[in-house]
Amino acid sequence: MLNNLFLKDYPAALRRIIAQEPARLIEREIQLPTIAQYLDKKRENAALIEQEKLVNEKQKLTKLQHNIISSIKQYGYWKGSINKIFDFQEANTLISLCESSYQFLKQDLNKYNFQQQNTVTLSPRLIYNNSRNWIIYQAGLNEKLLQIAHQYIGLPVGYHGAEIRLSRANPDKLDMAGPKTPHKDCEEGQKYPLLKAVLYLSDVTEDNGPFTIIQKNQSKPFTGYKGTLILADTSQNLHHGMPLKHGERMILFWTYSSHRPRCPHRCIIWPHSHIAVRKMTRNMSLVQQQAARWREYLPFLLCPVRYYPFPGHNFFLGDRNITG
Ligand SMILES: [Fe+2]
Repeated sequence: MLNNLFLKDYPAALRRIIAQEPARLIEREIQLPTIAQYLDKKRENAALIEQEKLVNEKQKLTKLQHNIISSIKQYGYWKGSINKIFDFQEANTLISLCESSYQFLKQDLNKYNFQQQNTVTLSPRLIYNNSRNWIIYQAGLNEKLLQIAHQYIGLPVGYHGAEIRLSRANPDKLDMAGPKTPHKDCEEGQKYPLLKAVLYLSDVTEDNGPFTIIQKNQSKPFTGYKGTLILADTSQNLHHGMPLKHGERMILFWTYSSHRPRCPHRCIIWPHSHIAVRKMTRNMSLVQQQAARWREYLPFLLCPVRYYPFPGHNFFLGDRNITG
């Protein structure tokens, strides 16, 4: 019965209140220096042990992976084609599966008028309920990607799942709502870096909402064909989805933080239940399973909401943070 209550699709405003209020409450509690110091200490000790392993892993990286990591460190991003990391067949299957969710997203978007909302996110339930779609989730656990995230972040990775978004232009005015306003994601209070993989599922020009990084007051919009992959540190770089002038844009995000978030209560929005994550990853390697199941090891008292199957989790991840 409780499950039915949670599965009901509440209006967006109500969903935000349900999801955010307990987190805000705990966020205030965490200001207690004793608890904060305890968590920091615990994390630092664990990090010391894990960093040793990291050095060994570094030797296994390919030249391309080294280049990608140094590009993210130096410029804040790396841009290339999905085929650089995924093999041809894998990339094609992934993209066509993602494309098959277009009709769902379009129907969802049509429920709103232009003043209400111009971006929708595919419900994680639609990914989980059809095992064919699991690839969309699993592809974010690609071992080459995880190695990059692991080395860049400097601690084993916590994978935040896959998110497909469809956006359209508002013909009346530029829509700057939500992540279209420049912001930094700081799920971890910016103490540790965060990595976002952005995959274009449609051709993206300057007119239909390119992912954009702002550095030294200069906008850098990433235009590209379908299949363009961008890896960016969205906690260190001001970024946004540029408002669409024309047409539509479909995009896939995979997000990675360390598996030991400084502020676990900010990871309150679960895209999938623990059971769903275990099922989707049961045939994957240990490293992949650990990256996917990191939430199971968060302290329960700091993360009282264990299952929140609504879209938009990364939106919260970014949006309660710094704008400017
Ligand atoms: Fe963001």
